[in-house]
Amino acid sequence: MRVLHIVGARPNFMKAAPIMREMFRYPTDFHQLLVHTGQHYAPQMSQVFFQELDLPQPDINLNVGSGTHAWQTAQIMMHFEPVLLDYRPDWVVVYGDVNSTLACSLVSTKLGFPVAHVEAGLRSFDSSMPEEINRVLTDQISNLLFTPSEDADRNLLREGIAGSRIHLVGNVMIDTLIHLLPKSQQNWFRLVNQHGYDRYLLVTIHRPANVDDPHTLAEIMSALESISKDITVLFPVHPRTNARLTEYDLKPRQENLSILEPLSYLDFLALQEHAALVLTDSGGIQEESTYLGVPCLTARPNTERPITISLGTNQLVESTKPALVKAMREGLAKGKIKKQLPPLWDGHTASRIVKVFRKLA
Ligand code: UD1
Repeated sequence: MRVLHIVGARPNFMKAAPIMREMFRYPTDFHQLLVHTGQHYAPQMSQVFFQELDLPQPDINLNVGSGTHAWQTAQIMMHFEPVLLDYRPDWVVVYGDVNSTLACSLVSTKLGFPVAHVEAGLRSFDSSMPEEINRVLTDQISNLLFTPSEDADRNLLREGIAGSRIHLVGNVMIDTLIHLLPKSQQNWFRLVNQHGYDRYLLVTIHRPANVDDPHTLAEIMSALESISKDITVLFPVHPRTNARLTEYDLKPRQENLSILEPLSYLDFLALQEHAALVLTDSGGIQEESTYLGVPCLTARPNTERPITISLGTNQLVESTKPALVKAMREGLAKGKIKKQLPPLWDGHTASRIVKVFRKLA
């Protein structure tokens, strides 16, 4: 079976790695091609993950880069089409909800190549998020839908997708986390030796809704400045956030509020495991913190991952200074909480996915 995997942006890499590794265990069953769209291209947003996750170097890089949604999606589609026609896979596997996911699904399905979507069925029901549009459309045109949790199955069935196409397999990103958690301990010791980290709040904020509006970003930064009087704040910044902080002149001056470069997977995992509290607007971090039992505040009005609230450690918070400061103070006072793990977040999702493909062979 010829399988073409699509990755493009940072959150794709940790989802593709365990599935490719599992398929490599059956060399007579699978021939794999890894295509990187180049949506993320900075070394610390891309290359470092290939090394740490043991992901093979991409066979093909479309080198598309950044642009408006229309431009980026169109460029990916145009550059991907000849690659697809040349390789002629039995399956195109797409991951998550980024622009690369939708662009390549669309090209594949129009040319009659079946698409398998990993992390299908998640819904925030908020169409102002570009990712929600990518999710809904990708699911509609996928032939195989691999879901992380039962709520995702329900969403897909409600949208008229046949149950026979849906496979509840669990969370493949947690496969990577479980695989690399022991290794990240070395990173933890190095970080503590270098920086003396002890008790800290870990922050990642990059969604357009939080960083593109100067007023909202100012509220978030002011809340962080306020809480940094009580606890060290570590804030590795995404390139989009970094650009906005400079543009709006919001770079913090407090010593206890550290703006860091984007971190590698292992460094971030180490810092996440030992954080007193996480404040984020990422999708994946809501899930990782749930697995790690670290309290997580998500600065968004909704989440496509409700299981991280109902079973995990996640809580939504409004992106205003009073709401953030209150929630951070309460979260820090509560300390570590060991909640229930969602079913099938057990490190064996990739093997369940590959089993489905082997049955189809
Ligand atoms: C994308 C995904 C988002 C995901 C995030 C993870 C979409 C619609 N969004 O958002 O779901 O959570 O990735 O990081 O696909 N940039 C660089 N270097 C890079 C990549 C980006 O400087 O390597 C800068 C560029 O200025 C670019 C901006 O970041 O314009 C945004 O990048 P883009 O890929 O368009 O979206 P993200 O915000 O990264």
